Amino acid sequence: MTARHRWTGAAAAGLLLGVLVGVPSGAVQATPPSWGAPGVGDPLFPTLGNGGFDVTHYDLTMRYDAASRTVAARTRVAARATQELTRFDLDFDGNTVTGVRVGGAAARWSRDGDELVVTPPRPVHRGAPFAVTVTYAADPRAAHDCAPLNAPTTSGWLPTPDGFVVAGQPSCARSVFPGSDHPSDKATYTFRLTAPRALTAVANGTLVSRRTTGDDTTWTYVEAAPMATELAQLAVGEYTVVTQRGPGGVVQRDVLPTTLADELRPDLSVTTGQLAWLGDRLGRYPFGEYGILAAPAEFHFALETQTLTLVSAGMLRFTPRPYWAPVLAHELAHQWFGDLVSPARWSDVWLNEGHATYYEAAYADSAGYASFTDRMRTAYRNGDSWRAQYGAPAAPRADDLFNDDVYDGGALVLYALHEKVGAATFQRIERAWLARYANGSAGTAQFVTLASQVAGRDLGGFLHAWLYGTTTPPMPGHPDWTS
Ligand code: ARG
Ligand code: ZN
Repeated sequence: MTARHRWTGAAAAGLLLGVLVGVPSGAVQATPPSWGAPGVGDPLFPTLGNGGFDVTHYDLTMRYDAASRTVAARTRVAARATQELTRFDLDFDGNTVTGVRVGGAAARWSRDGDELVVTPPRPVHRGAPFAVTVTYAADPRAAHDCAPLNAPTTSGWLPTPDGFVVAGQPSCARSVFPGSDHPSDKATYTFRLTAPRALTAVANGTLVSRRTTGDDTTWTYVEAAPMATELAQLAVGEYTVVTQRGPGGVVQRDVLPTTLADELRPDLSVTTGQLAWLGDRLGRYPFGEYGILAAPAEFHFALETQTLTLVSAGMLRFTPRPYWAPVLAHELAHQWFGDLVSPARWSDVWLNEGHATYYEAAYADSAGYASFTDRMRTAYRNGDSWRAQYGAPAAPRADDLFNDDVYDGGALVLYALHEKVGAATFQRIERAWLARYANGSAGTAQFVTLASQVAGRDLGGFLHAWLYGTTTPPMPGHPDWTS
Protein backbone atom coordinates (compact mmCIF):
# COMPACT_ATOMS: atom_id res chain seq x y z
CA MET A 1 0.00 0.00 0.00
CA THR A 2 1.31 3.41 -0.77
CA ALA A 3 1.30 4.91 2.66
CA ARG A 4 0.76 8.62 2.78
CA HIS A 5 4.31 9.16 3.81
CA ARG A 6 6.14 6.15 2.56
CA TRP A 7 9.68 6.47 1.57
CA THR A 8 9.98 6.68 -2.17
CA GLY A 9 13.21 4.77 -2.75
CA ALA A 10 11.19 2.12 -4.57
CA ALA A 11 9.87 4.54 -7.10
CA ALA A 12 13.33 6.03 -7.57
CA ALA A 13 14.91 2.61 -8.05
CA GLY A 14 12.22 1.62 -10.53
CA LEU A 15 12.64 4.84 -12.46
CA LEU A 16 16.40 4.45 -12.49
CA LEU A 17 16.10 0.90 -13.76
CA GLY A 18 13.62 2.06 -16.38
CA VAL A 19 16.13 4.63 -17.57
CA LEU A 20 18.97 2.09 -17.57
CA VAL A 21 17.07 -0.37 -19.74
CA GLY A 22 15.89 2.42 -22.01
CA VAL A 23 12.20 2.60 -21.24
CA PRO A 24 10.93 6.05 -22.20
CA SER A 25 9.48 7.43 -18.99
CA GLY A 26 5.72 7.53 -19.03
CA ALA A 27 5.47 5.38 -22.16
CA VAL A 28 3.41 2.20 -21.91
CA GLN A 29 4.83 -0.48 -24.13
CA ALA A 30 5.41 -4.21 -23.91
CA THR A 31 9.00 -4.20 -25.17
CA PRO A 32 11.75 -3.49 -24.42
CA PRO A 33 11.55 -5.17 -21.00
CA SER A 34 10.59 -3.15 -17.96
CA TRP A 35 11.61 -4.98 -14.83
CA GLY A 36 10.65 -4.17 -11.29
CA ALA A 37 13.65 -3.66 -8.99
CA PRO A 38 14.55 -6.49 -6.59
CA GLY A 39 14.51 -4.16 -3.55
CA VAL A 40 13.23 -0.79 -2.37
CA GLY A 41 16.80 0.38 -1.85
CA ASP A 42 17.13 0.01 1.92
CA PRO A 43 20.90 0.43 2.40
CA LEU A 44 21.01 -2.23 5.14
CA PHE A 45 18.84 -4.78 3.28
CA PRO A 46 19.14 -4.07 -0.45
CA THR A 47 16.87 -6.91 -1.59
CA LEU A 48 13.99 -6.36 0.84
CA GLY A 49 10.79 -5.03 -0.66
CA ASN A 50 10.42 -4.67 -4.41
CA GLY A 51 10.42 -1.83 -6.89
CA GLY A 52 7.72 -1.39 -9.52
CA PHE A 53 4.61 -2.06 -7.45
CA ASP A 54 3.00 -1.47 -4.09
CA VAL A 55 1.21 -4.27 -2.29
CA THR A 56 -2.34 -3.45 -1.21
CA HIS A 57 -3.54 -6.73 0.34
CA TYR A 58 -2.28 -10.18 1.27
CA ASP A 59 -4.56 -13.20 1.34
CA LEU A 60 -2.81 -16.05 3.16
CA THR A 61 -4.44 -19.47 2.96
CA MET A 62 -2.77 -22.26 4.90
CA ARG A 63 -3.69 -25.81 5.83
CA TYR A 64 -1.72 -27.40 8.67
CA ASP A 65 -1.32 -31.16 8.52
CA ALA A 66 -0.68 -32.39 12.06
CA ALA A 67 0.62 -35.81 10.98
CA SER A 68 3.43 -34.49 8.77
CA ARG A 69 3.67 -31.15 10.64
CA THR A 70 3.74 -29.39 7.29
CA VAL A 71 1.71 -26.61 5.72
CA ALA A 72 0.04 -26.43 2.31
CA ALA A 73 -0.10 -22.73 1.47
CA ARG A 74 -1.43 -20.32 -1.11
CA THR A 75 -0.66 -16.61 -0.88
CA ARG A 76 -2.42 -14.08 -3.05
CA VAL A 77 -0.66 -10.74 -3.26
CA ALA A 78 -2.80 -7.86 -4.56
CA ALA A 79 -0.75 -4.92 -5.78
CA ARG A 80 -0.73 -1.84 -7.95
CA ALA A 81 1.98 -1.34 -10.55
CA THR A 82 3.96 1.88 -10.27
CA GLN A 83 5.56 1.26 -13.67
CA GLU A 84 5.10 -0.98 -16.69
CA LEU A 85 6.09 -4.50 -15.55
CA THR A 86 7.21 -7.19 -17.94
CA ARG A 87 8.83 -8.94 -14.99
CA PHE A 88 8.90 -8.37 -11.25
CA ASP A 89 10.13 -9.94 -8.02
CA LEU A 90 8.52 -11.06 -4.83
CA ASP A 91 10.63 -11.61 -1.72
CA PHE A 92 10.46 -15.33 -0.92
CA ASP A 93 12.92 -17.62 0.78
CA GLY A 94 12.84 -21.43 0.90
CA ASN A 95 9.61 -23.51 0.74
CA THR A 96 8.58 -25.56 -2.30
CA VAL A 97 6.81 -23.48 -4.93
CA THR A 98 4.37 -25.42 -7.10
CA GLY A 99 2.78 -22.65 -9.15
CA VAL A 100 2.50 -18.93 -9.78
CA ARG A 101 -0.45 -17.21 -11.42
CA VAL A 102 -0.89 -13.57 -12.35
CA GLY A 103 -4.43 -12.38 -12.87
CA GLY A 104 -5.64 -15.99 -13.02
CA ALA A 105 -3.21 -17.11 -15.76
CA ALA A 106 -0.15 -19.27 -15.19
CA ALA A 107 3.03 -17.20 -15.10
CA ARG A 108 6.66 -18.14 -15.67
CA TRP A 109 8.74 -17.99 -12.53
CA SER A 110 12.21 -18.76 -11.29
CA ARG A 111 14.07 -18.38 -8.03
CA ASP A 112 17.11 -16.22 -7.58
CA GLY A 113 18.35 -16.32 -3.97
CA ASP A 114 15.65 -14.72 -1.87
CA GLU A 115 13.74 -13.43 -4.87
CA LEU A 116 10.90 -15.16 -6.66
CA VAL A 117 11.15 -13.77 -10.18
CA VAL A 118 7.79 -13.67 -11.97
CA THR A 119 7.16 -13.08 -15.66
CA PRO A 120 3.45 -12.43 -16.19
CA PRO A 121 1.92 -13.76 -19.41
CA ARG A 122 1.15 -10.16 -20.41
CA PRO A 123 2.87 -7.03 -19.10
CA VAL A 124 1.18 -5.24 -16.23
CA HIS A 125 0.57 -1.61 -17.10
CA ARG A 126 1.63 1.27 -14.94
CA GLY A 127 -1.10 2.15 -12.45
CA ALA A 128 -2.94 -1.14 -12.94
CA PRO A 129 -4.05 -3.31 -10.04
CA PHE A 130 -2.96 -6.94 -10.37
CA ALA A 131 -2.82 -10.08 -8.26
CA VAL A 132 -0.19 -12.77 -7.97
CA THR A 133 -1.03 -16.15 -6.47
CA VAL A 134 1.80 -18.39 -5.27
CA THR A 135 1.08 -21.98 -4.25
CA TYR A 136 3.68 -23.71 -2.09
CA ALA A 137 4.44 -26.31 0.54
CA ALA A 138 6.15 -25.32 3.79
CA ASP A 139 7.81 -27.20 6.61
CA PRO A 140 8.05 -24.92 9.66
CA ARG A 141 11.02 -26.98 10.88
CA ALA A 142 13.08 -26.51 7.70
CA ALA A 143 16.21 -24.38 7.65
CA HIS A 144 16.09 -21.26 5.49
CA ASP A 145 18.52 -18.63 4.36
CA CYS A 146 17.50 -15.79 6.52
CA ALA A 147 18.87 -15.05 9.95
CA PRO A 148 16.39 -13.70 12.46
CA LEU A 149 18.21 -12.11 15.35
CA ASN A 150 18.16 -13.98 18.66
CA ALA A 151 15.87 -16.66 17.24
CA PRO A 152 16.63 -20.37 17.47
CA THR A 153 15.76 -20.89 13.78
CA THR A 154 16.95 -19.65 10.42
CA SER A 155 13.54 -18.65 9.21
CA GLY A 156 10.41 -16.74 10.15
CA TRP A 157 8.70 -20.04 11.04
CA LEU A 158 9.13 -21.05 14.63
CA PRO A 159 7.99 -24.64 15.20
CA THR A 160 6.23 -25.61 18.42
CA PRO A 161 5.49 -29.18 19.59
CA ASP A 162 1.90 -28.83 18.33
CA GLY A 163 2.25 -26.48 15.38
CA PHE A 164 4.04 -23.19 14.77
CA VAL A 165 4.16 -19.47 15.38
CA VAL A 166 5.97 -16.92 13.22
CA ALA A 167 8.56 -14.23 13.95
CA GLY A 168 9.57 -12.38 10.80
CA GLN A 169 11.44 -9.33 12.10
CA PRO A 170 13.40 -7.94 10.40
CA SER A 171 13.80 -9.88 7.17
CA CYS A 172 12.27 -13.33 7.60
CA ALA A 173 8.56 -12.88 6.85
CA ARG A 174 9.73 -13.78 3.32
CA SER A 175 10.30 -17.36 4.51
CA VAL A 176 6.64 -17.63 5.55
CA PHE A 177 4.89 -15.94 2.62
CA PRO A 178 5.91 -14.24 -0.61
CA GLY A 179 5.50 -10.49 -0.80
CA SER A 180 7.22 -7.18 -0.43
CA ASP A 181 9.06 -7.77 2.82
CA HIS A 182 9.89 -4.24 3.83
CA PRO A 183 8.11 -2.03 6.41
CA SER A 184 7.74 0.81 3.90
CA ASP A 185 5.21 -1.28 1.95
CA LYS A 186 2.34 -1.90 4.36
CA ALA A 187 -0.86 -3.68 3.37
CA THR A 188 -4.03 -5.20 4.81
CA TYR A 189 -4.38 -8.96 5.35
CA THR A 190 -6.80 -11.86 5.29
CA PHE A 191 -5.71 -15.14 6.90
CA ARG A 192 -7.57 -18.40 6.23
CA LEU A 193 -6.05 -21.05 8.44
CA THR A 194 -7.24 -24.65 8.42
CA ALA A 195 -6.15 -27.08 11.12
CA PRO A 196 -7.43 -30.25 12.78
CA ARG A 197 -10.47 -29.31 14.85
CA ALA A 198 -8.70 -30.11 18.12
CA LEU A 199 -6.22 -27.29 17.44
CA THR A 200 -6.65 -23.52 17.44
CA ALA A 201 -5.43 -21.17 14.72
CA VAL A 202 -4.83 -17.47 15.38
CA ALA A 203 -3.57 -14.49 13.42
CA ASN A 204 -3.38 -10.70 13.60
CA GLY A 205 -6.61 -8.78 13.69
CA THR A 206 -10.22 -9.89 14.03
CA LEU A 207 -11.64 -13.40 13.87
CA VAL A 208 -14.37 -13.07 11.26
CA SER A 209 -15.40 -16.69 10.85
CA ARG A 210 -14.75 -20.17 12.13
CA ARG A 211 -16.18 -23.18 10.36
CA THR A 212 -15.74 -26.85 11.12
CA THR A 213 -16.17 -29.35 8.32
CA GLY A 214 -15.42 -32.96 9.14
CA ASP A 215 -12.20 -33.14 11.11
CA ASP A 216 -10.96 -29.66 10.22
CA THR A 217 -11.72 -26.13 11.29
CA THR A 218 -11.04 -23.08 9.13
CA TRP A 219 -10.38 -19.84 10.99
CA THR A 220 -10.54 -16.57 9.07
CA TYR A 221 -8.94 -13.41 10.43
CA VAL A 222 -8.81 -9.95 8.92
CA GLU A 223 -6.24 -7.30 9.75
CA ALA A 224 -7.86 -4.20 8.33
CA ALA A 225 -5.19 -1.75 9.49
CA PRO A 226 -2.14 -1.52 7.21
CA MET A 227 0.59 -3.79 8.53
CA ALA A 228 4.26 -4.38 7.77
CA THR A 229 5.12 -7.94 6.69
CA GLU A 230 7.55 -8.34 9.62
CA LEU A 231 4.59 -7.92 11.99
CA ALA A 232 2.47 -10.74 10.59
CA GLN A 233 1.51 -13.41 13.09
CA LEU A 234 -0.17 -16.70 12.31
CA ALA A 235 -0.07 -19.63 14.65
CA VAL A 236 -1.51 -23.09 15.11
CA GLY A 237 -1.42 -25.17 18.27
CA GLU A 238 -3.24 -26.39 21.37
CA TYR A 239 -4.34 -22.99 22.61
CA THR A 240 -7.07 -21.54 24.74
CA VAL A 241 -8.19 -18.07 23.68
CA VAL A 242 -9.21 -15.80 26.54
CA THR A 243 -11.07 -12.62 25.60
CA GLN A 244 -12.39 -9.71 27.64
CA ARG A 245 -13.32 -6.06 27.11
CA GLY A 246 -10.40 -3.74 27.80
CA PRO A 247 -10.15 0.04 28.28
CA GLY A 248 -11.88 2.08 25.59
CA GLY A 249 -13.56 -0.97 24.08
CA VAL A 250 -10.37 -2.72 22.98
CA VAL A 251 -10.92 -6.46 22.72
CA GLN A 252 -8.28 -8.08 24.91
CA ARG A 253 -7.44 -11.45 23.48
CA ASP A 254 -4.74 -13.67 24.96
CA VAL A 255 -3.74 -16.95 23.38
CA LEU A 256 -2.39 -19.40 25.94
CA PRO A 257 -1.20 -22.99 25.70
CA THR A 258 -4.22 -24.90 26.98
CA THR A 259 -2.19 -26.82 29.55
CA LEU A 260 -0.89 -23.52 31.00
CA ALA A 261 -4.01 -21.38 30.62
CA ASP A 262 -5.03 -21.45 34.29
CA GLU A 263 -1.49 -20.69 35.40
CA LEU A 264 -0.86 -17.77 32.99
CA ARG A 265 -4.26 -16.14 32.88
CA PRO A 266 -3.96 -14.12 36.11
CA ASP A 267 -0.56 -12.72 35.07
CA LEU A 268 -1.89 -11.37 31.81
CA SER A 269 -4.47 -9.21 33.54
CA VAL A 270 -1.53 -6.76 33.72
CA THR A 271 -2.31 -5.79 30.11
CA THR A 272 -5.51 -3.99 31.11
CA GLY A 273 -3.59 -1.53 33.27
CA GLN A 274 -0.86 -1.14 30.66
CA LEU A 275 -3.40 -0.26 27.96
CA ALA A 276 -4.77 2.48 30.21
CA TRP A 277 -1.30 3.67 31.25
CA LEU A 278 0.01 3.94 27.70
CA GLY A 279 -3.30 5.29 26.44
CA ASP A 280 -2.92 8.21 28.85
CA ARG A 281 0.46 9.06 27.39
CA LEU A 282 0.10 8.21 23.71
CA GLY A 283 -3.60 8.45 22.99
CA ARG A 284 -6.06 5.69 22.26
CA TYR A 285 -4.70 2.22 21.49
CA PRO A 286 -4.67 2.20 17.70
CA PHE A 287 -6.13 -1.21 16.81
CA GLY A 288 -9.30 -3.15 17.65
CA GLU A 289 -7.67 -6.04 19.53
CA TYR A 290 -4.67 -6.59 21.70
CA GLY A 291 -3.24 -9.54 23.50
CA ILE A 292 -0.39 -11.93 24.13
CA LEU A 293 0.40 -15.11 22.24
CA ALA A 294 2.37 -17.23 24.72
CA ALA A 295 4.10 -19.85 22.61
CA PRO A 296 5.24 -23.20 24.01
CA ALA A 297 8.72 -22.79 22.55
CA GLU A 298 12.06 -21.63 23.85
CA PHE A 299 13.27 -18.34 22.48
CA HIS A 300 14.69 -15.30 24.15
CA PHE A 301 12.91 -12.38 22.61
CA ALA A 302 9.44 -10.95 22.48
CA LEU A 303 7.98 -9.62 19.26
CA GLU A 304 5.36 -6.92 18.72
CA THR A 305 3.39 -8.76 16.01
CA GLN A 306 0.49 -6.41 15.32
CA THR A 307 -2.43 -6.77 17.76
CA LEU A 308 -0.96 -10.05 19.09
CA THR A 309 2.45 -9.86 20.75
CA LEU A 310 4.52 -13.03 20.67
CA VAL A 311 6.32 -14.14 23.83
CA SER A 312 7.56 -17.50 25.01
CA ALA A 313 5.39 -19.06 27.70
CA GLY A 314 8.65 -19.71 29.55
CA MET A 315 9.31 -15.98 29.97
CA LEU A 316 6.04 -15.61 31.86
CA ARG A 317 6.62 -18.75 33.90
CA PHE A 318 10.30 -18.60 34.75
CA THR A 319 11.23 -14.93 35.01
CA PRO A 320 10.03 -12.66 37.84
CA ARG A 321 7.22 -10.20 37.29
CA PRO A 322 9.54 -7.14 37.54
CA TYR A 323 11.23 -8.55 34.44
CA TRP A 324 8.32 -9.71 32.28
CA ALA A 325 5.77 -6.99 33.08
CA PRO A 326 8.01 -4.22 31.66
CA VAL A 327 8.74 -6.44 28.63
CA LEU A 328 5.00 -6.66 28.01
CA ALA A 329 4.75 -2.86 28.33
CA HIS A 330 7.61 -2.59 25.81
CA GLU A 331 5.76 -4.76 23.29
CA LEU A 332 2.53 -2.86 23.86
CA ALA A 333 4.35 0.45 23.25
CA HIS A 334 5.54 -1.02 19.94
CA GLN A 335 1.93 -1.18 18.77
CA TRP A 336 2.20 2.61 18.46
CA PHE A 337 5.93 2.81 17.66
CA GLY A 338 6.80 0.24 15.00
CA ASP A 339 3.33 -1.04 14.14
CA LEU A 340 1.05 2.02 13.76
CA VAL A 341 4.07 4.03 12.56
CA SER A 342 6.63 1.75 10.94
CA PRO A 343 10.24 2.52 10.10
CA ALA A 344 10.88 3.88 6.61
CA ARG A 345 14.08 1.86 6.49
CA TRP A 346 15.78 -0.46 8.94
CA SER A 347 18.39 2.05 10.11
CA ASP A 348 15.37 3.88 11.62
CA VAL A 349 14.74 0.97 13.98
CA TRP A 350 15.76 3.16 16.95
CA LEU A 351 12.38 4.86 16.43
CA ASN A 352 10.80 1.49 17.32
CA GLU A 353 13.16 0.28 20.00
CA GLY A 354 14.10 3.63 21.52
CA HIS A 355 10.45 4.55 22.06
CA ALA A 356 9.47 1.08 23.29
CA THR A 357 12.39 1.10 25.75
CA TYR A 358 11.60 4.64 26.89
CA TYR A 359 8.01 3.72 27.81
CA GLU A 360 9.10 0.33 29.17
CA ALA A 361 11.48 2.11 31.59
CA ALA A 362 8.87 4.72 32.50
CA TYR A 363 6.33 1.96 33.14
CA ALA A 364 8.80 -0.01 35.27
CA ASP A 365 9.35 3.12 37.33
CA SER A 366 5.62 3.80 37.76
CA ALA A 367 5.06 0.17 38.82
CA GLY A 368 7.84 0.46 41.38
CA TYR A 369 10.16 -2.06 39.70
CA ALA A 370 13.12 0.12 38.76
CA SER A 371 14.10 3.77 38.58
CA PHE A 372 13.72 5.42 35.17
CA THR A 373 16.42 8.00 35.90
CA ASP A 374 18.88 5.31 37.00
CA ARG A 375 18.32 3.47 33.75
CA MET A 376 18.93 6.63 31.71
CA ARG A 377 22.02 7.47 33.72
CA THR A 378 23.39 3.96 33.16
CA ALA A 379 22.72 4.28 29.44
CA TYR A 380 24.51 7.61 29.50
CA ARG A 381 27.56 6.03 31.14
CA ASN A 382 27.63 3.35 28.46
CA GLY A 383 27.02 5.80 25.65
CA ASP A 384 30.52 6.24 24.28
CA SER A 385 31.42 2.57 24.39
CA TRP A 386 28.11 1.59 22.73
CA ARG A 387 28.71 4.13 19.98
CA ALA A 388 32.18 2.69 19.43
CA GLN A 389 30.97 -0.89 19.44
CA TYR A 390 27.63 -0.67 17.56
CA GLY A 391 27.57 2.65 15.77
CA ALA A 392 25.33 5.53 16.84
CA PRO A 393 21.66 4.89 17.68
CA ALA A 394 20.47 5.81 14.17
CA ALA A 395 23.34 4.04 12.39
CA PRO A 396 23.20 0.32 13.30
CA ARG A 397 24.74 -2.45 11.23
CA ALA A 398 22.49 -4.91 9.39
CA ASP A 399 23.86 -7.88 11.33
CA ASP A 400 23.36 -6.17 14.69
CA LEU A 401 20.21 -4.10 14.35
CA PHE A 402 18.84 -4.87 17.79
CA ASN A 403 21.78 -3.65 19.85
CA ASP A 404 21.98 -1.79 23.18
CA ASP A 405 22.65 1.53 21.52
CA VAL A 406 19.42 1.17 19.53
CA TYR A 407 17.36 0.17 22.60
CA ASP A 408 18.67 2.04 25.63
CA GLY A 409 20.74 4.40 23.49
CA GLY A 410 17.60 5.23 21.48
CA ALA A 411 15.62 5.75 24.69
CA LEU A 412 18.40 8.06 25.88
CA VAL A 413 18.05 10.19 22.72
CA LEU A 414 14.38 10.63 23.56
CA TYR A 415 15.23 11.44 27.16
CA ALA A 416 17.69 14.09 25.96
CA LEU A 417 14.90 15.54 23.80
CA HIS A 418 12.56 15.46 26.79
CA GLU A 419 15.10 17.29 28.94
CA LYS A 420 15.76 19.82 26.18
CA VAL A 421 12.15 20.78 25.36
CA GLY A 422 10.34 19.89 28.60
CA ALA A 423 7.69 17.29 29.38
CA ALA A 424 4.73 19.06 27.80
CA THR A 425 6.41 19.74 24.46
CA PHE A 426 7.88 16.24 24.42
CA GLN A 427 4.43 14.73 24.76
CA ARG A 428 3.12 16.99 22.00
CA ILE A 429 5.94 15.76 19.73
CA GLU A 430 5.11 12.13 20.49
CA ARG A 431 1.43 12.57 19.78
CA ALA A 432 2.04 14.64 16.65
CA TRP A 433 4.34 11.91 15.34
CA LEU A 434 1.72 9.23 15.88
CA ALA A 435 -1.05 11.33 14.39
CA ARG A 436 0.89 12.44 11.34
CA TYR A 437 2.32 9.07 10.33
CA ALA A 438 -0.41 6.71 11.60
CA ASN A 439 -0.80 3.62 9.38
CA GLY A 440 2.27 4.57 7.37
CA SER A 441 6.04 4.51 7.60
CA ALA A 442 8.42 7.31 8.50
CA GLY A 443 12.09 7.76 9.25
CA THR A 444 14.61 9.60 11.35
CA ALA A 445 14.67 12.73 9.17
CA GLN A 446 10.89 13.08 9.48
CA PHE A 447 11.12 12.70 13.24
CA VAL A 448 13.72 15.45 13.50
CA THR A 449 11.66 17.76 11.27
CA LEU A 450 8.49 17.12 13.20
CA ALA A 451 10.16 17.60 16.58
CA SER A 452 11.49 20.98 15.39
CA GLN A 453 8.08 22.03 14.05
CA VAL A 454 6.24 21.11 17.24
CA ALA A 455 8.89 22.66 19.50
CA GLY A 456 8.99 25.79 17.36
CA ARG A 457 12.78 25.73 17.19
CA ASP A 458 15.40 24.05 15.07
CA LEU A 459 16.41 20.85 16.85
CA GLY A 460 18.32 19.49 13.84
CA GLY A 461 21.83 20.04 15.16
CA PHE A 462 20.94 18.88 18.66
CA LEU A 463 19.25 15.65 17.52
CA HIS A 464 21.81 14.95 14.82
CA ALA A 465 24.59 14.87 17.40
CA TRP A 466 22.57 12.52 19.59
CA LEU A 467 21.53 10.25 16.72
CA TYR A 468 24.72 10.05 14.67
CA GLY A 469 27.60 11.37 16.78
CA THR A 470 30.57 9.17 17.63
CA THR A 471 30.49 10.46 21.20
CA THR A 472 27.61 11.08 23.59
CA PRO A 473 26.63 14.77 23.75
CA PRO A 474 26.11 16.53 27.10
CA MET A 475 22.76 15.69 28.71
CA PRO A 476 20.62 18.84 29.00
CA GLY A 477 19.88 19.64 32.61
CA HIS A 478 22.38 17.07 33.92
CA PRO A 479 25.82 18.71 33.69
CA ASP A 480 27.13 16.17 36.22
CA TRP A 481 26.40 13.18 33.94
CA THR A 482 29.55 11.80 32.37
CA SER A 483 29.99 9.17 29.73
N1 ARG B 1 11.37 -5.93 18.39
C1 ARG B 1 11.70 -6.98 19.33
C2 ARG B 1 11.62 -6.34 20.69
O1 ARG B 1 10.62 -6.09 21.18
C3 ARG B 1 13.06 -7.50 19.09
C4 ARG B 1 13.16 -8.87 18.66
C5 ARG B 1 14.58 -9.19 18.30
N2 ARG B 1 14.62 -10.42 17.60
C6 ARG B 1 14.22 -10.56 16.33
N3 ARG B 1 14.21 -11.75 15.81
N4 ARG B 1 13.88 -9.54 15.63
O2 ARG B 1 12.53 -5.89 21.27
ZN1 ZN C 1 11.38 -3.80 21.09
